[in-house]
Amino acid sequence: MGINIISTGSFTSNEILDNIQLSEMVDTSEEWIIERTGIKTRHIASDFTTEDLAANACDNAIKNANLNKDDIQLIIVASVTSDTVVPSSSFLVSEKLDIKNCTCFDINVACSGFIYSITVAKALMASLNIKYAAVIGAEKLSKVVDWGDRASCVLFGDGAGCVILENTDITNTAKNSKFNCQLEIVANTIGGNFDYKKYLTIARKDKIDDQVNPFIKMNGRQIYKFATEIGIEVIDELLKKSNINKDELALIVPHQANSRIVDTLAEKSGIDKKKWFINIDKYGNTSSASVPIAMDEALDSFDFESNRGKYIISLAFGGGLSFGGILVKII
Ligand code: ACO
Repeated sequence: MGINIISTGSFTSNEILDNIQLSEMVDTSEEWIIERTGIKTRHIASDFTTEDLAANACDNAIKNANLNKDDIQLIIVASVTSDTVVPSSSFLVSEKLDIKNCTCFDINVACSGFIYSITVAKALMASLNIKYAAVIGAEKLSKVVDWGDRASCVLFGDGAGCVILENTDITNTAKNSKFNCQLEIVANTIGGNFDYKKYLTIARKDKIDDQVNPFIKMNGRQIYKFATEIGIEVIDELLKKSNINKDELALIVPHQANSRIVDTLAEKSGIDKKKWFINIDKYGNTSSASVPIAMDEALDSFDFESNRGKYIISLAFGGGLSFGGILVKII
């Protein structure tokens, strides 16, 4: 009994920007982008706000859980691209879906935001006796991408993903699970280090100076180095906390920042590359939305039956610089 993932959902627009189109905008090439990042296309949400993306992903996840909208008592939106400051994106999602009497707030931890949000939701659900929560990662990064900077504009995309959590200590059942099994979150880890904050910034429009601008400014090499070091520490920490070994892992759902980061993590951790889920080719890096979109696709096609008793890890790293991970037991 505990906090279980019972359903997932995601949403992206149909508008696609491919590498050929990008190479007409900046000095780059399809070969460079695929070889250095693994990205083939990304979705651009011209006709949607961040909150539209979030609400659509949440709606899909609630439907997949066979719940009524009013069963949701807590909504957390992880985002760095909210359309308003007040009210928060999560309140706008509750309004769009007409979910009344719901606790709502946002979390901004860049690409680690969704993992932080799951961790916070889990703790709140236990302490406030919340039955069901919707945890969303949603981004319209296209509005903060510098479309003239070839080193960063090829990386990012728009989208949203959502996970529904159930507090089985209260409901005494996980029968709503979309997955025909229980997915209990058994360990979490989150953290960060401001020493590296300059390596990834997006400034508010009223706070621009010669150091920061309103677009994504990134030192790709430094983030790459950070990600491939901290990812290993996150995995080790989760395994240690639960006293299990890496052979008991069935699936890894990492933040989709660069397929080469995932390759390096697989090699350094010694966890079979086949267990690492990758969909960056379709979406690029969608920051807070990356993990829940990946989770939605990874869990949809996963063989739970033959992996009962094993574990899933999801991990992320990003602006802050920040990091986090969750360990899920397949029961
Ligand atoms: N097309 C062609 N050439 C390019 C491009 C491009 N789009 N971008 C850079 N180059 C050039 C550079 O100018 C450089 O040329 P030079 O050797 O003549 O100086 C060369 O390619 C190599 O550049 P590097 O920066 O060393 O390339 P690298 O292999 O490190 O790849 C990348 C760059 C893809 C950005 C990589 O470092 C990366 O993925 N880093 C992690 C990024 C990340 O995870 N960010 C997460 C932040 S998201 C968030 O938190 C909101």
